Amino acid sequence: MKADELLDLAPVVPVVVLDDPGAAVPLARALVAGGLPAIEVTLRTATALESIERIAAEVPDAVVGAGTVVHPEDARRAVAAGARFLVSPGCTAALREAMTATDVPFLPGVSSASEAMALLEHGVTAMKFFPAGPAGGPDYLKALGGPLPRIRFCPTGGVTPDNAPRYLGLPNVACVGGTWLTPPDAVRDGDWDRIRAAAAEAAALRAPA
Ligand code: 3PG
Repeated sequence: MKADELLDLAPVVPVVVLDDPGAAVPLARALVAGGLPAIEVTLRTATALESIERIAAEVPDAVVGAGTVVHPEDARRAVAAGARFLVSPGCTAALREAMTATDVPFLPGVSSASEAMALLEHGVTAMKFFPAGPAGGPDYLKALGGPLPRIRFCPTGGVTPDNAPRYLGLPNVACVGGTWLTPPDAVRDGDWDRIRAAAAEAAALRAPA
């Protein structure tokens, strides 16, 4: 899979922070059933790699990836666990090289023209825009699209069902990411119906007419 194909899987990539790996499989099934196959499991919990492993092994229709990839070693370990894509909040030369070497698509995080241009020099044209809201929101991202039209972004950080359509209406936005699909109480209570319903609503999000 190429990064562009990953970006085109669905309008929303759920960003999942999961403590209990026992919840990983039913959670992933609920998101896929709602219409969101690309799932970013953040490496922010001690059990994240186990959750990725379980989803990769037991939910074949999910495209599970790792988020919060910060160190080069994170990239290698995530792919070894079964991650099919990588997302990072920012990027360094060492991290870019490690992610490139894995052969899975990756979305390095940027929040400025210079950061985006540094990646473009290495042929990277798919990026996460992070933290989208605090960095300037849809207006900022629209302005980046003037001089840098080749880059396709997945904005993440402060994206909500209310503001997602504005992002999705920009020509340089392919999809958005966010944690709102997996509220901690729903995950804790195993309320998979609620998560499936939230996923179905998100899967239907579009740019404003
Ligand atoms: C991320 O972790 O990539 C984003 O910060 C998620 O942000 P959100 O909680 O605002 O959706």
